[in-house]
Amino acid sequence: MKIAVLPGDGIGPEVTREAVKILEALDLPGLTLFDGDVGGVAYKRHGVPLPDETLTIAKSCDAVLFGAVGDPDCDRLERRLRPEQAILGLRKELDLFANLRPAKVFAGLEHLSPLQPEIASTLDMMIVRELTGDVYFGQKGEKVADDGSREGWDMMSYSETEVQRIARVAFRTARSGDCRVCSVDKANVLETSQVWRDTVKAAAGSHPDIELSHMYVDNAAMQIISNPSQFGVILTGNLFGDILSDLASAAVGSIGLLPSASMGDRKTEFGRFGLYEPIHGSAPDIAGQGKANPMATILSVGMMLRHSFGREEEARRVDAAVERALADGIRGGDLGGSHGCEEIGAAVLERL
Ligand code: NAD
Ligand code: IPM
Ligand code: MN
Repeated sequence: MKIAVLPGDGIGPEVTREAVKILEALDLPGLTLFDGDVGGVAYKRHGVPLPDETLTIAKSCDAVLFGAVGDPDCDRLERRLRPEQAILGLRKELDLFANLRPAKVFAGLEHLSPLQPEIASTLDMMIVRELTGDVYFGQKGEKVADDGSREGWDMMSYSETEVQRIARVAFRTARSGDCRVCSVDKANVLETSQVWRDTVKAAAGSHPDIELSHMYVDNAAMQIISNPSQFGVILTGNLFGDILSDLASAAVGSIGLLPSASMGDRKTEFGRFGLYEPIHGSAPDIAGQGKANPMATILSVGMMLRHSFGREEEARRVDAAVERALADGIRGGDLGGSHGCEEIGAAVLERL
């Protein structure tokens, strides 16, 4: 079982370290970890955010554990050299088109949510976010008019093929729950979304067990907060999924609690290749202070065990250990507590 560990920048290394401890404690047969540089760290060492060597390591493994990338020192670099290009490059190069972002309020932990407890307790959704298309990967550029004023542009598009494959993932995912899929778009304004909506509708034709609905993204943002119980699987594009998943994390209680899995079609000896990362970023405001909550990254290890290694039992143990630590009052600063990153990691490990 070969896993590439790519900690990255800011709190990335801090949270990844704790997640690796959990992984190692499971004592899985033949587990081998390979380290690689990504993000600002890689730019500073190798001159690029995603060195060929790192990409080669990732490709040769069965799964990737990713921390976070992003460094304020690099925000003025030309775009191709910025840390964020490392994660975008990995997603594209590894064809990880399906991003699963589960958001749920653990039973008994409703008080962590800013929502009223009776509303919070009903929040249990899976955001299925398309990850290799949309405005993220279209042509982009900047031009300067004769008067010297700048104009930036990014092309948003989705092809039917791209939508069909992510829709299939959403339908499959919904089947392990209650078969509800809400497709979120902006078809009242965007041509991209009209193609998206028509394609999702057509794809659902061969999945009669799926209860499909459609919602505009502005309304969806409002409904996730006011009436989360209506959502099972949310199927959406790259940009909307990015925004809605941070929103959902706030409704759970903290972005430090939300894991993710990025999957493609590639099979491995153990299951399906995937990249696993918390949905949060490098959090420069708290980096290096030992304050980050590693739970999202630890839960990402759980998703890796489940989706890439078929180890459901170990995955449940990891989820349960996090849940138990929270129930026992272990809280990072993000949840109003004072436990540090290492302390939280140790608390989860002890319960595991
Ligand atoms: P962020 O997610 O890094 O931080 C947002 C807020 O949440 C901050 O106040 C931060 O302190 C807090 N936070 C995030 N994770 C936390 C954790 N585990 N524990 C406690 N608090 C946590 O988003 P941002 O500030 O918008 O972006 C910072 C950098 O990260 C940028 O360079 C951005 O591009 C990058 N980024 C990277 C990824 C990724 O690597 N996948 C994701 C999002 C943002
Ligand atoms: C995420 C991040 C990334 C995204 C950035 C860092 C490119 O926000 O993983 O949610 O927008 O996908
Ligand atoms: Mn994001």
